[in-house]
Amino acid sequence: MVKSIKEIEQQAFEELEKALTSEDLESLSIKYLGRKGLVTTFLRNISKLPEKERPNAGKNANLLKTVLDKAFKKAADKLKAQKGGTDDFIDVTLPGRPMTRGHLHPITKISREISDIFVKLGFDIAEGPEVETDYYNFEALNIPKYHPARDMQDTFYISDSIVLRTHTSPTQPRVMEKTQPPVRIIAPGKVYRCDSDITHTPMFHQVEGLMVDKNVSFGDLKGILTTFIQQIFDKETSLRFRPSYFPFTEPSAEVDIRCVICKGKGCRVCSKSGWLEILGAGMVHPAVFENMGYDTDKYTGFAFGVGIERLAMLKYGIDDLRKFFENNMRFLGQF
Ligand code: DAH
Repeated sequence: MVKSIKEIEQQAFEELEKALTSEDLESLSIKYLGRKGLVTTFLRNISKLPEKERPNAGKNANLLKTVLDKAFKKAADKLKAQKGGTDDFIDVTLPGRPMTRGHLHPITKISREISDIFVKLGFDIAEGPEVETDYYNFEALNIPKYHPARDMQDTFYISDSIVLRTHTSPTQPRVMEKTQPPVRIIAPGKVYRCDSDITHTPMFHQVEGLMVDKNVSFGDLKGILTTFIQQIFDKETSLRFRPSYFPFTEPSAEVDIRCVICKGKGCRVCSKSGWLEILGAGMVHPAVFENMGYDTDKYTGFAFGVGIERLAMLKYGIDDLRKFFENNMRFLGQF
């Protein structure tokens, strides 16, 4: 026997009372309003009713369809509100998602390490601009126009008198022109040269060091650099000073360290020599002091310049300079 619309309605509301979960509501909706649902089937079978009952039955069935649809939706909303507005059950005992932590770039790390070492030795940290004048980058450092030393620097010129600094040495005259001795500074930072291959990038980092006072000697330079290198690498690392030439120091030296890879036995990294060239240094040239108005009879000083990437490569065993600048997270994540 076909149930009347009244009976279907009554049954539907009784069952709705008992529905507790969203799954219950879902199956009720299917049971009554689905393709084979009770109301749907009723509507489809209206043609089998006696002709004069059809209009009323159709009207009532359609009404019930709307009423039930609204009632089911309302019940579902109520359920959702009770659960805090979400359909998902939250399992508070599940472990949290791991957070990936950022960290410092290896160049930043070693720069800070270098700064820490020198701060403990009584040095201040100085800074200078990366867009520099020809005067500070060259002239004040005893490198006049047409001096052959300018050729070695592969300078990026912005105009005739403005350059991207090719080294951190211009911080020397910048500090000296504002300070009377004693001066004890290091200046880490970016430098630029028009050069690019496995061992050169157009931008790289250097640290400049400068100490000026009465009676500063080459022995002080050796002592400070030895302390610095032994703290970066290890206490057994020995240094070798080779005579060299820089326009802003006299005498000048290039400093090698005992190969940190093979400890001097000779390997691929040190080209079998047992030594690695690591920095340039020397006693500040009197011409530089004169440019700054320092009394050359009273004061002497030393200066040095170190390539930071080179130090980092040796310290962390990195074989290609370009890796520092490719921003490959798998590479950077190791530090
Ligand atoms: N500025 C030099 C360069 O970039 C490095 C250098 C050498 C700096 C000797 C110094 C120094 O302070 O005394 O190659």
